[in-house]
Amino acid sequence: MVRQFDFLVLGGGIAGLTCALEAAKHGKVAVLTKRARSEGNTVYAQGGIASVLSKEDSLERHVEDTMIAGAGLNHRDVVALTVTEGPGRLNALVSLGAEFNRRASGEFDLTREGGHSKRRIVHAGDVTGREVERALLAACDEAPIEFFEHTTAIDLILDRAQPRGKGRALGCYALREDGAIETFLGKVTVLATGGAGKVYLYTSNPDVATGDGVAMAYRAGVAIANMEFYQFHPTCLFHPEAKNFLISEALRGEGGRLKLRSTGERFMKRYDERGELAPRDIVARAIDAEIKRTGDGYVHLDMTHLGKSYLMERFPNIYARCRDFGIDIAAQPIPVVPAAHYMCGGVVVDAHGKTSVPGLYAAGEVTCTGLHGANRLASNSLLEGLVFGHRVAVESAKELQAGVPSPAPPPDWDPGHAVPSDELVVVSQNWEEIRRLMWNFVGIVRSGKRLARARRRLDMLREEIRQYYWDYRVTRDVVELRNIADVAHLIVECATRRKESRGLHYTLDYPDVDDHNWLHDTVIQREP
Ligand code: FAD
Ligand code: SIN
Repeated sequence: MVRQFDFLVLGGGIAGLTCALEAAKHGKVAVLTKRARSEGNTVYAQGGIASVLSKEDSLERHVEDTMIAGAGLNHRDVVALTVTEGPGRLNALVSLGAEFNRRASGEFDLTREGGHSKRRIVHAGDVTGREVERALLAACDEAPIEFFEHTTAIDLILDRAQPRGKGRALGCYALREDGAIETFLGKVTVLATGGAGKVYLYTSNPDVATGDGVAMAYRAGVAIANMEFYQFHPTCLFHPEAKNFLISEALRGEGGRLKLRSTGERFMKRYDERGELAPRDIVARAIDAEIKRTGDGYVHLDMTHLGKSYLMERFPNIYARCRDFGIDIAAQPIPVVPAAHYMCGGVVVDAHGKTSVPGLYAAGEVTCTGLHGANRLASNSLLEGLVFGHRVAVESAKELQAGVPSPAPPPDWDPGHAVPSDELVVVSQNWEEIRRLMWNFVGIVRSGKRLARARRRLDMLREEIRQYYWDYRVTRDVVELRNIADVAHLIVECATRRKESRGLHYTLDYPDVDDHNWLHDTVIQREP
């Protein structure tokens, strides 16, 4: 079956929905989501959205904080435009009905997180993402937008009549819930497929985060950058039954103290004068080092000095979830460990979200806009989704209005000789192996030797997965496995190329920053 739209948006998180809402003013829009339409990283966001909304703050300070966290690799022009457009985009979200905590005066109740020199995080309790996703979906329901849930984009379709690398993006092949593979065409196609936390064994991300957009774009010959900068959130709950529960950075922002499990010592000042409020890369590395040094397995985040009523009111979700796991955060410290959290690199886009392939745009966590540099500042991601989701819609609408070529329709999906699999164990085995090897060899602290080990294993696994992919009928598990393998490959390649330590990329072989040779992005592009 072939379906035709003006705007084909892959992803229903903050970036995809923001884009879809604006695009719906200009044409026929489809939004594809891999599972239920609200499922993605957005809905789990806790801390909030960074934006300059107080008189004590300034755009310049937000720019500087972002540049400092990003270890100077950020593109200053993109940082400036994102920060400047932030308050307007935030207010547009409020106009759609999103409700954030306010003080008695009516002003936003701004919280603080690591790396921010001022209070500038707008939040809805400790479930900001849930409120954002609710408000955006409610607005989408009032707009002419067609949703296709449980629909997994497999690969982009490019116009093959054009020379290699010049062909326009025409849409994608997508796997429906009933196993059918349909052709979705868009005059423009927008990747808003989010991150790839599932590449690592331990992650704060939900199951959908398998880096599909980056992998599809890479296979299509789109430029990808800075994949070595995978952000590890310092504090995920350490509990055998908690699969991926985040303990928000806002807890440290409001006074939470990191302590060693065995001695109770506060250790952060030994690593950075900003203590618990140092940027994330520093805090995650410090915790990792202390866990390895002491053999403790985890560290403690102590909130007990802040009092029960405050904690229950300010962090109701975290309080309740920890209680479910038998931890009363008002009476005992929270056991925490770092886990893979955010993909700072991704599909290279310009300031309007355009990729290197005509007709293909991207927004949100899937992209590398230049905003985050070598390490994302807390709560700058929802901000980026809002700003770039909107920019992509505006720019692509202009392109549509100017008139886009109408190439010959692409062929239907060809299943070849694929048969149903009788060896599903290959999928589960390889899935586990990739995630474990990425955790062990390409984690918070790297070395050339570890990266070479990871690369050798990945080469073998990717070949096996490639064979399996062509031999057997496509399922969502296989699509995701192929994608995490490709994303793992990109992380290892970028990490291997960067011969210095900067931001989130720390290697024992080159422990220092090398501004002379490495103050630039790591770009990878495959021959399409
Ligand atoms: P997502 O919200 O992840 O949406 C991706 C969408 O793409 C989903 O709809 C998914 O179904 C769809 N998709 C994926 N692959 C396919 C495919 N093959 N076919 C079709 N659809 C597909 N950031 C902040 O700024 N502040 C915070 O407080 C904050 N807290 C966080 C807490 C947690 C626990 C996590 C995990 C992240 C947090 N982040 C936070 C990061 C932030 O939530 C994400 O970076 C952001 O929400 C990403 O939005 P997105 O629209 O790019 O992608
Ligand atoms: C958090 O609440 O700690 C997450 C914030 C973020 O990832 O930006």
